[in-house]
Amino acid sequence: MASSAPSVVPPAPADPNALAPAVWPEGARRDEHGRLVVGGVDAEALAARFGTPLYVLDERVVRERAARFRTALDEAARSIGSEATVYYAGKAFLSAAIVRWVGEEGLSVDVCSGGELAIALAAGADPARIGFHGNNKSVAEIERAVAAGVGAIIIDSEIEIERVAHAAAAAGRVQRVRLRVNSGVHASTHEFLATAHEDQKFGVPLSRAVEFGTRIRAHASLDFLGLHCHIGSQIFDSAGFAESAERLLAVHAELARLAPLPELNLGGGFGIAYTEADDPAPIERIAAGIARSVEAACRVHDVPVPKLAFEPGRSIVGPAGITLYTVGTIKPVPTDDGWRHYVSVDGGMSDNARTALYGAAYTVRIASRASDAPAALVRVAGKHCESGDIVVDADWLPHDVAPGDLVAVAATGAYCWSLASNYNHQPRPAVVAVRDGEARVIVRGETEADLLARDAGIAAPGVGAAGPETSDQATATGGTTA
Ligand code: LLP
Repeated sequence: MASSAPSVVPPAPADPNALAPAVWPEGARRDEHGRLVVGGVDAEALAARFGTPLYVLDERVVRERAARFRTALDEAARSIGSEATVYYAGKAFLSAAIVRWVGEEGLSVDVCSGGELAIALAAGADPARIGFHGNNKSVAEIERAVAAGVGAIIIDSEIEIERVAHAAAAAGRVQRVRLRVNSGVHASTHEFLATAHEDQKFGVPLSRAVEFGTRIRAHASLDFLGLHCHIGSQIFDSAGFAESAERLLAVHAELARLAPLPELNLGGGFGIAYTEADDPAPIERIAAGIARSVEAACRVHDVPVPKLAFEPGRSIVGPAGITLYTVGTIKPVPTDDGWRHYVSVDGGMSDNARTALYGAAYTVRIASRASDAPAALVRVAGKHCESGDIVVDADWLPHDVAPGDLVAVAATGAYCWSLASNYNHQPRPAVVAVRDGEARVIVRGETEADLLARDAGIAAPGVGAAGPETSDQATATGGTTA
């Protein structure tokens, strides 16, 4: 995703109160007072009870999407005589609640750090259904994953073959592993590039996969499951996955001729609609396209169809989330072709870094009321000391948007909370789950006390200005093995 995408102004909507079904959590609506209702709870009640900014996640939508993706990918695999395991990619948003929801819907979990592994384990995920990723796992992280009994460690470099083999041997275990390869296919939205080599940090070159696979097989402490590839994110159709599967299967076939190779993991990356301009194909169609290419490539290379695995993150949790903000100040700013209203809210790049980082586009609506006023072009800015602190670059709100209005930004369930920061010492917001008219905190929001507590120069009640040698301090500064 480009980091400096030019501003794209969507067409003015006929009704700036409308909630496009593809963009807002399924079932989102306005009540008789014009208030936005998500998961049966109205936005004003949520803001009154929990404050703003606030992340709101519709549990039912997460569960339904998890079940739909699992079913679609597994049915497509079954149509070619195989089956599919679907891992939820926890980097998109990870908390104990979501680990339980997706687990109950039949998904496994993929983690990519000691911290994510700790959350998944603490939430009760079956270790055998965890995949452990990362291009630079520490030895301590590898040892911990082996000791926990994770179902697979995804080996990302030549160096890691020996590291994982050694950790498994020392623990007296046989560790299942996959080998992440770089297929040369890079996909983003509806485009993909296929090159001989992709210049990025993940995986090993496809051209060396047979050599590394053979080395993995030489270790009695490793059990080689298969190749893994992740080609990118926010992908709208099956073409990039198909190209990548074809490239991988040529090498898979070579390895499978030497010894059984049960699996092929094609990663995640399925796209979602952030605005009405986004039109991702339904997962059922993408899954069928992938299955057709896998079957054809297996026939060409005369190899049995392997079990398939996928790792969707954004597509499970992204559309289920919104962020609520309170409008503070509004400034009309002259532009070359008219006026743009800068609507500043009480959060910003600390709770949604994606607009600043990737030039991502979002959709905003007033959440506390409907309005008859005509639409005005707005830019939703945050409260941080930085001009790039934009939440929604360009969208339309009723012209009478005013300080005190509650606004909602759609499709913030993925990579917003997980990329959140304390920039300008802004406490990170709470995450509230809504379902059937009930709301509950699933991740507590930070307080100023949390911020002060980590500053070693400030005496915390009962602790004193702890010196760096104390065990309290070692823990607070992240001095654990994770
Ligand atoms: N598997 C692997 C190995 C990955 O690296 C990723 C994402 C996924 C699965 C999940 O991809 P998804 O289905 O969520 O697209 N922060 C960026 C996205 C970074 C994705 C990194 N890897 C964003 O906000 O767009």
